[in-house]
Amino acid sequence: MKLLVTGGAGFIGSNFIQYTLAQRPGWHIVNLDALTYAGNLANFDNLPLSHRQRHHFIKGDIKDKTLLTQIFSDYNFEAIINFAAESHVDRSILGPEAFVETNVLGTFRILETAKCFWEKNQKPNTFRFLHVSTDEVYGSLGKEGYFKETSPYDPSSPYSASKGASDHFVSAYFRTYGLPTIITNCSNNYGPYQFPEKLIPLMIINSIEQKPLPVYGDGKNVRDWLYVHDHCEALLTVIERGIPGETYNIGGNSEKENIEIISQLCDLLDERLNRKKENSSFQLIRFVPDRPGHDRRYAIDASKIKKELGWQPQHSFEKALTKTVDWYLQHLDWVNKVKSGEYRQWVKLNYQNRDQRWG
Ligand code: NAD
Ligand code: DAU
Repeated sequence: MKLLVTGGAGFIGSNFIQYTLAQRPGWHIVNLDALTYAGNLANFDNLPLSHRQRHHFIKGDIKDKTLLTQIFSDYNFEAIINFAAESHVDRSILGPEAFVETNVLGTFRILETAKCFWEKNQKPNTFRFLHVSTDEVYGSLGKEGYFKETSPYDPSSPYSASKGASDHFVSAYFRTYGLPTIITNCSNNYGPYQFPEKLIPLMIINSIEQKPLPVYGDGKNVRDWLYVHDHCEALLTVIERGIPGETYNIGGNSEKENIEIISQLCDLLDERLNRKKENSSFQLIRFVPDRPGHDRRYAIDASKIKKELGWQPQHSFEKALTKTVDWYLQHLDWVNKVKSGEYRQWVKLNYQNRDQRWG
């Protein structure tokens, strides 16, 4: 298998590459990534030598038509998996344009290049274009119900709107041109190498550094959490056995309120860092003004992928969260590498915006 992975230096992409190189010894992966603030080659520092030989990194932008055409003709890909995106909701609120450019225009450019390449090669029906998307395209749930593949799109943030738009282009390329595309819509991932702007790693790092733990609104928004390796296995399953034109929802059956997760993290860190009541991480919790357009609840009905492809999550939330905390405690060098000047500027901008007293 010659696989193109876009956005492979980010959180899920780099986990997927490491996972796949280990699980599929015959596969070669070309990783095309623009190395934005979220992409880090340090994610591959521990890749074994035999895996390194099957991982080819190219620094480049998915909007770059000339580069895309060149690498498609150089490598003759059998499949593509598109992770490349601007992925953080808060950033999309403060600066939406980059989300339209990468998530919408970028996805369009890869689709267009893939279509030309596929047509030139007599339309092999084994070719796959897997687009990695999000449950956020479905909007917000009340107390009841689940997102199904048939749920209407109803995005709330510029991020989810841009992902929704990209999904529609992917479906259109299947319906109009027959390009064998598949879409997956997944819930919140957590695990190693997640950039510390997202809830779980931000809380871990801030707690270690004795900085405030900012809880948006009342902390009762609900997300469905999936350990990243379970997501990687689901994506491998879909790329190998998924049906073109279909969408698969992927979830962890693990709904939690944010405040519940933050409390679990405080308990774990107090235990690992031997913190007593007087200097407990709980004392760092601060309720701050809410995210505008904040979706209240996400929950996934993942029965289709279970029934049709036999995938279901293997990791329990409690065990995998502990594993994640331990990973960050053991990889503070990685954290320091990715926390560039840009990161510090972002934290200041996002959280000062919420509370002028934030220091
Ligand atoms: P991430 O922000 O950690 O990584 C994104 C990667 O894309 C980075 O390596 C970045 O350098 C690269 N990139 C950005 N713009 C690019 C461009 N123009 N050209 C080439 N590369 C570019 O994101 P993630 O959390 O790993 O998410 C990966 C994908 O999965 C995204 O499409 C996201 O929408 C989707 N997703 C994420 C989650 C989650 O919980 N993190 C859940 C469901 C779906
Ligand atoms: O549902 C899938 C999506 O999950 C992915 O498509 C996105 O790429 C990914 O970023 C994630 O989006 P969320 O907005 O759900 O994740 P985030 O980690 O930003 O926030 C999770 C919850 O925690 C959300 O309700 C907001 C809240 N939160 C977040 C941060 C960063 C806080 O209370 N405080 C914070 O500082």
